[in-house]
Amino acid sequence: MKLWGGNFKSDSNNKLNSFNSSLPIDIKLYKYDITGSRAHVKMLAAQDIISEKDKDLILDGLTIVENKIEQAIKNGDYLNYDAEDIHSLVEELLTEEIGPIAGKMHTGRSRNDQVALDIKLYLKDKINNIQDLLKTAIITLAEIAENETETLMPGYTHLQAAQPITLGHHLLAYAWKLKRDYDKLADTYNRHNLSPLGAGALAGSSFPLDREMVADELNFAGITENSLDTVSDRDFILDFHSSAVNIIIHLSSLAEEIITWNSPNYNFIEISDAMSTGSSIMPQKKNPDVAELIRGKSGRILGNHTALATSLKGLPLAYNKDLQEDKEGLFDTVDNLFEILNILPDFLKSISFNRDKLEKATYNGYLNATELADYLAKKGLPFRLAHQVSGRTVNYALENNIQLFEIEIEKFQEILDKVIKSSQANNLKIIIDNELYSWLDLKNAVKKRKLPGGPAPEQVKKQIINLQNLFK
Ligand code: ARG
Repeated sequence: MKLWGGNFKSDSNNKLNSFNSSLPIDIKLYKYDITGSRAHVKMLAAQDIISEKDKDLILDGLTIVENKIEQAIKNGDYLNYDAEDIHSLVEELLTEEIGPIAGKMHTGRSRNDQVALDIKLYLKDKINNIQDLLKTAIITLAEIAENETETLMPGYTHLQAAQPITLGHHLLAYAWKLKRDYDKLADTYNRHNLSPLGAGALAGSSFPLDREMVADELNFAGITENSLDTVSDRDFILDFHSSAVNIIIHLSSLAEEIITWNSPNYNFIEISDAMSTGSSIMPQKKNPDVAELIRGKSGRILGNHTALATSLKGLPLAYNKDLQEDKEGLFDTVDNLFEILNILPDFLKSISFNRDKLEKATYNGYLNATELADYLAKKGLPFRLAHQVSGRTVNYALENNIQLFEIEIEKFQEILDKVIKSSQANNLKIIIDNELYSWLDLKNAVKKRKLPGGPAPEQVKKQIINLQNLFK
């Protein structure tokens, strides 16, 4: 059934019909479309725009239509309807059920405000679901971190071992990133939680619609303020895409680290057989496909954001059919986020950490060089000079293929004295004592970094409690 054409002298070209149709995509919105129609129809009756009897007829009819569409989706034959979009399909099926009274449902409404409403209802739902999944991912990371608060590992900058940290601290970095994503989704939800219905095609309606009543019925916090803005606005989708981009940026980094750690060169982790894949030709291989797919899916999620922004760019007010292109990328992003966040907790739990390897790696690359500099600075040496002493000591250790804590006190003192002598602070006298060795101990070094937000086990435990409390 066509919702237009009264002023047309010829039938549509068949190619136009299929080119113009969004039904294969927006069929996903059927429940939201019907929910919106129910609220609209109840309001029309409350405002005496349609009779109570017609309202009941329409509401009963909508229940049948809902079941019919559900069935058609199950059978895979919904495309046999030649409706232009989900809004047309619902009206067509309703007309089949209750006759021309069905047409009253659309009083004071346009598909332009209707489609904005449907997508908003869909997004509100999906944002809540994605937040739940993010919550599970965050709690899973916290649970895993709980067992790794003392596990020593190198912390990196420039992918070079930099300072010793704990594995728990490293994992929780991702939990906090995801927590920001959770909040960003909440911001998106709240910013756009306004009902568009009543904006009509572009210029509202002369019917005495009660926009607030519809907003209340559909759990919106209020109504939009400008009808032209309302039917042209897709910022709610753009903001959602932006939140999704943040999520996938974070998860693809986590995936990248898992892939790196799993490589034989690092050998920091092992992914269980149940979550690994094999190679069809190389029998020895175990591949981290889950992590690679998460990383790879960042392409489409970033792409969907860019695609919508590009379609919106330069559109004049108010509704333009370009906007119909808003849905496919949105659904794709939502579906893929669901898939990713659904497998993520199980995947993370399937990883076992080679604690020995992680700890050993901490002894590669003089990660306690900063501790040496800090020790000297604490003794009164200006930090710049302390940095020099530490650098020279590292060179000495490198040349002799030993660890810093294997150097004798006299050697430290010799290097220190030389640096002081050649500096402007040559009247300084600093005596190195045995305490230095406890500074150079890597486990101690981590324990000492106990400022809030630091990697010390006691702080990591606090982070875990803070994360868990967020969702209580
Ligand atoms: N299928 C359309 C969309 O998704 C619904 C709105 C159509 N409005 C119109 N005036 N053609 O955007």
